[in-house]
Amino acid sequence: MENNFDVVVIGSGPGGYVAAIRCAQLGFKTACVESRKTLGGTCLNVGCIPSKSLLHASEIYIKAQKDFNSLGIEVSNVKLNLSKMMLNKNKSVITLTKGIEFLFKKNKITHIKGKGSILDKNTISVTDNANKKETYKAKNIIIATGSTPSSLPGIKIDEKAIVSSTGALSFDKPPKELIVIGGGYIGLELSSVWKRLGSNVTVIEYLDQIIPGMDKDISSEFLKILKKQGINFKLDSKVTGVNVSGNKANVDFINNKTNKKERIQSDKVLIAVGRKPNIGDDIKNLGIEINEKNKIKVNKKFETTVKNIYAIGDVIDKGPMLAHKAEDEGIAVAEIIAGQAGHVNYDVIPSVIYTSPEVATVGKTEENLKKENIKYKIGKFPFIANSRAKVNNDTEGFVKVIADEKTDKVLGVALISSLAGTMIAELGLAMEFGASAEDIARTCHAHPTHSEAVKEAAMAVDKRPIHF
Ligand code: NAI
Repeated sequence: MENNFDVVVIGSGPGGYVAAIRCAQLGFKTACVESRKTLGGTCLNVGCIPSKSLLHASEIYIKAQKDFNSLGIEVSNVKLNLSKMMLNKNKSVITLTKGIEFLFKKNKITHIKGKGSILDKNTISVTDNANKKETYKAKNIIIATGSTPSSLPGIKIDEKAIVSSTGALSFDKPPKELIVIGGGYIGLELSSVWKRLGSNVTVIEYLDQIIPGMDKDISSEFLKILKKQGINFKLDSKVTGVNVSGNKANVDFINNKTNKKERIQSDKVLIAVGRKPNIGDDIKNLGIEINEKNKIKVNKKFETTVKNIYAIGDVIDKGPMLAHKAEDEGIAVAEIIAGQAGHVNYDVIPSVIYTSPEVATVGKTEENLKKENIKYKIGKFPFIANSRAKVNNDTEGFVKVIADEKTDKVLGVALISSLAGTMIAELGLAMEFGASAEDIARTCHAHPTHSEAVKEAAMAVDKRPIHF
């Protein structure tokens, strides 16, 4: 095998594999080191992709029971075949990871199998499954090693009774009682899956709102919707311990305000309190600077403090831990290495929670703007007043557009809708082009579509929505 490369990327998640493809497109002799059996990182193997498969299937399952009848579709005896649902999920994962293999071959990228470790700024050692070591040389190294689930002090994830998202994507039956610690992205997506498939789900969240950092209007409306779906919430609650006894787990927690102590027994406990960057000792030993949150410090060009070594994705001290942020950084870093002007606009990175309805945001929240002392105006439009949403019996949620009080420039958008994840792209694009709310309001939106609610919310910024 070839041992000399222009670029070696460590990690083949959305950041790493995209960086490798873009490097190859730019003419670099490129290799990508991956320790997992299949390419694609957390996202494809045990993250975004399998979770979306289960979210999709479980949503149809619950709709078949609850909504089909009112549409005139009579179904009886709707039954869950969980192993088939899991098989379908695994098939999607295999197809997509194989897709990356195909793209690597197409772009003549060398796939080095094993665990990479950086020896110096131009040398990488890779240890394969059989413990065989091989050394490779590279003019440039890109660290794209991603992250792994965090836990809480004293709580050990065993992937049996106490699971991370990985375990919660592969239960062999719906747990009767599921406790989810953490009301963030993973906690709420997987709560939705298992609630729909029959579990009694309780989410314990440390703060007094779900999805901390999200627009408060959206977060409280989202909480109402999830409660209506039957998910239980214990907010403002600190977990003090999880004890496994037999095949049950007892979760102890205390209310931060009232100090009331509670214990709930469950069959499974999902720990979803965030993720920590994968930073090996090799990186620390090289003297690459790491910040107080254990993330690699990079400059605008994604350079670490060691020359020729770059870093992107969940391991760096920039932007949210999201697959699409890592992908954009992968493209940017490759272009920067090629002497081009690679760039990521961290002000316009959408966030989506793939529940039903979905929640999507881009840009600033009201809370951010208040802190920054920026004066703003708001336009809101509910889906109850949108004709397509009404036709589809899909009226939960609203669009909220926040624009600068003086210039009318769109500063942030948040929405709850069955199609929010797809609809947010229009707003990201508008913000990239520096659009005003008026620009969106005067853009013709097809009728009847959910997207008309975006136009109406933009018109509402100027207090002139038509249908509300
Ligand atoms: P998160 O940061 O989204 O949420 C963690 C939650 O746990 C927060 O609400 C936090 O307040 C709470 N928490 C922390 N300590 C706690 C404690 N002791 N007791 C109770 N609650 C506690 O992290 P999550 O959900 O684990 O996701 C990890 C990463 O993966 C995130 O960065 C997220 O952006 C990403 N992700 C993105 C998805 C998407 O884009 N749809 C889906 C899944 C994950």
